[in-house]
Amino acid sequence: MERFYVTTPIYYVNAEPHIGHAYTTIVADVMNRFHKLMGYKTFFLTGTDEHGDKIVQAAQEAGMEPKAYADRISGLFRQTWPKLGITNDKFIRTTDPEHIKVVQDVLQKVHDAGDIYFSSYKGQYCVGCERFYTERELVDGKCPDHDKPLIEREEANYFFRMSKYQDWLIGYIRENPDAIRPERYRNEVLSFLKEPLEDLCISRPVERLSWGIPLPFDNRYVTYVWFDALINYISAPGYPDGELFRQFWPVAQHTVAKDILKPHGIYWPTMLKAAGVPMYRHLNVHGYWKIAEGKMSKSHGTVVRPLDLVPVYGLDAFRYFLLREMVFGLDSNFSEDALVQRINADLANDLGNLFSRTLAMTSRYFDGKVPPFGAEPNEEDRALRGMAKNATEEFTREIPQLGFHKALMAIWECIGSANKYIDYVAPWNLAREESLNPRLQTVMRTLLEVNKSVAVLISPFMPETAEKMLDRLGISKKALDLRLDQDARWGTLEEGKEVSKGEALFPRVDLGGAKKAEKGQAEKSEKPGKLKAAVQTEKANAASQPARAPVAAAASGSTGAAGAASADPHSEAIDIDTFRKIDLRIGLIRQAERVPRSEKLVKLIIDIGEERQVVAGIAQTHSPDDLIGKQVVIVANLKPAKLMGVESHGMVLAVRDGADLKLLIPEKEVTPGGRVS
Ligand code: MSP
Repeated sequence: MERFYVTTPIYYVNAEPHIGHAYTTIVADVMNRFHKLMGYKTFFLTGTDEHGDKIVQAAQEAGMEPKAYADRISGLFRQTWPKLGITNDKFIRTTDPEHIKVVQDVLQKVHDAGDIYFSSYKGQYCVGCERFYTERELVDGKCPDHDKPLIEREEANYFFRMSKYQDWLIGYIRENPDAIRPERYRNEVLSFLKEPLEDLCISRPVERLSWGIPLPFDNRYVTYVWFDALINYISAPGYPDGELFRQFWPVAQHTVAKDILKPHGIYWPTMLKAAGVPMYRHLNVHGYWKIAEGKMSKSHGTVVRPLDLVPVYGLDAFRYFLLREMVFGLDSNFSEDALVQRINADLANDLGNLFSRTLAMTSRYFDGKVPPFGAEPNEEDRALRGMAKNATEEFTREIPQLGFHKALMAIWECIGSANKYIDYVAPWNLAREESLNPRLQTVMRTLLEVNKSVAVLISPFMPETAEKMLDRLGISKKALDLRLDQDARWGTLEEGKEVSKGEALFPRVDLGGAKKAEKGQAEKSEKPGKLKAAVQTEKANAASQPARAPVAAAASGSTGAAGAASADPHSEAIDIDTFRKIDLRIGLIRQAERVPRSEKLVKLIIDIGEERQVVAGIAQTHSPDDLIGKQVVIVANLKPAKLMGVESHGMVLAVRDGADLKLLIPEKEVTPGGRVS
């Protein structure tokens, strides 16, 4: 059986988990779940990095001992990951006794081999980075990362003969072009290596820093934090002779951001070489999440914490957003508006509508049971099947090479094609004629199969949604038990099996309410409001709604094409029986097209249990494509009328809001035809 081993950086315990940590860990999780889906045996490691100056300083600020402080923050990381759906097999801490032992064994081995020597060193030291800098690395005489002046320090220390392995490393990276990827980071490492590599100082005198792993050959010193931390990748699976180490080390992949490229691209390979351990297979390096073009920073209150976002927007939406939005390797800007837009467009509209339309029609036309392929699939059916196949191929090709956004784009192309297929094939027309039933069967079965494939393909990204979709399609399987070759196979849905409609997968999020969890709101300990599934009028910003917005007719058979005539809020009182005479229904817009030669009119086919043609005066505010799939409120017992020569059998309700016209839509999805009272 093929194997896969993925790691995240082990995070410093001087900061709470934020969106940057979440991204790397979710990327590793998607890779882990993907490989399980492909039938690999996997090992997924994360953890915390707990020694060194930085931690001592943070503990002091918190008024705690380093170990107690490390316990607390490490605990926060450990508790966060399950809430983000992370499936790590092990959580390592550099204070674990097993890790400490391996670090000492490796140090001893490298020392015995003559690659560690004792020497005095004088240089420019940055406390934040815990390291000496060479003159040429400084920017304006300051640390490039901390923008602070350095202090001059002289120390006798132990050094690792890193320079000895420079030529070997250059040769290795040249011969293994995908060892460090994407290519820009490989090039960056090769360009570091153009300059002579200096030896690495790997010890700190105990009188300056005692919070570290003692050197096995000199207890007046502790180990430099990077020499300690990097070794977690082999200590966790049980170096040197543990079974997991034997099985998984040969396929190890590290996932990190560009900030720690140098330790992973230079220190680590040379350390491995000196210790006689084979090189890792890949170093996957991604860019930075920025907030409004800047770095996330606690002091500026721009830290975005995943656990503030997830309760508001949902875990799967959050995971989807991170993986869809960032091109692996490049920087991205985080904004809550962008997150909301993706939820509404990609999840609520595209995926949510496809799934609900498919299930609603299966329920209506086939009593909620999976139909057989009745008629021989035609060209359109085959084209849609081809899109599902294409999505599967892209997914299989792109994820192993870190093209997460491309894999998602291919899946969404398939979803888009399926929605268009519904509009084009118009199953409701096929349902009118008994003789077309075999054709309708094939159409609905094709759609159900596409939804099943989509559910399996999104499972590494959105495991909860995948399970929910499969469950409603009559397949009860945990996301982690899915296997691509079996579960995404075309035609494998069980004929006659009951499917269930259920609630909308992703309720739309009110754009007006966004921005709340952004910019470290939580830093100010103000929890973001519950935004999800807010009752909305389409496009409405609740705050900007007039206090008493008049409900107007957007179109009707009797009041004319212009629609949206204001009603008088102080109009004559009516009794309930008069009100009941108005037959208000929830309708689902199936088709929409402009009425030729009219600026305002759109012809709609609306499903209210039966299909109605309604002409609405909304063309100036709504494009026909956006209307399809929306639920609206209609007056169903209005006398028919002709508008620009087109018959209208009802009226769509809307609200005039300044220059805008907003449709009334139900809070949650309703079975078409539901009576409004
Ligand atoms: N402890 C070291 C790593 C040792 S690994 C042997 C360390 N820890 S850290 O807590 O600072 O984590 C750095 C990592 O967190 C980055 O490499 C990246 O994975 C993640 N991120 C932190 N901020 C980030 C962004 N703003 N954007 C994306 N990821 C970032 O370095």
